[in-house]
Amino acid sequence: MSHIGIFFGGKDNGSTAKVARRIQELFGKDLASVHNVSNSKKEDVMKHDFLVLGTAAWGIGEMHSDWENFIDELVECDLVKKRIALFGLGDQIVYPESFVDGMGTIFCRLPHKENVVGFTSTRSYKFYYSTAEKEEQFVGLAIDDDTQPELTNERIINWVIQVKKEFGL
Ligand SMILES: Cc1cc2nc3c(=O)[nH]c(=O)nc-3n(C[C@H](O)[C@H](O)[C@H](O)COP(=O)(O)O)c2cc1C
Repeated sequence: MSHIGIFFGGKDNGSTAKVARRIQELFGKDLASVHNVSNSKKEDVMKHDFLVLGTAAWGIGEMHSDWENFIDELVECDLVKKRIALFGLGDQIVYPESFVDGMGTIFCRLPHKENVVGFTSTRSYKFYYSTAEKEEQFVGLAIDDDTQPELTNERIINWVIQVKKEFGL
């Protein structure tokens, strides 16, 4: 059984799904599995010791709508012993006042924030405001595949190396 469950919200052929699959590849398919939240349940969460949760920002700073139901199930799970890492997609040029806010919403809803690892620097981005920014860091990996696609792969690679260490793997 895989130890790491990567849960994403969005279309299976969207950018968020693409990032989820790249993260899986880098952890290794024997260690990590990918799940679309639209057909995931509490049992799927509880099977994994490590959770990687991802969404694009939608509406004005919302999570993908498929997360709305799943987040309620997720927060009812016993997450005390889970280690968690987050990733978010967004567009810093068109939405500079709500950049990757979907990731900020997931973080805000999590009960055990001390279990969240994988914080990253905001330095290589330009935006005015993000609910995913805490003390000059993002609460996870921020991907802007719309306006900085050339940085996507490098950002994912560096982040997976960091998260592996922080997960103790
Ligand atoms: C209607 C709409 C609203 C969006 N709202 C935001 C937003 O508030 N903040 C942000 O950073 N990006 C926003 N975006 C950009 C998306 O998050 C970005 O394009 C993302 O890569 C889409 O991922 P997907 O292909 O998995 O859906 C929005 C895009 C659309 C079409």
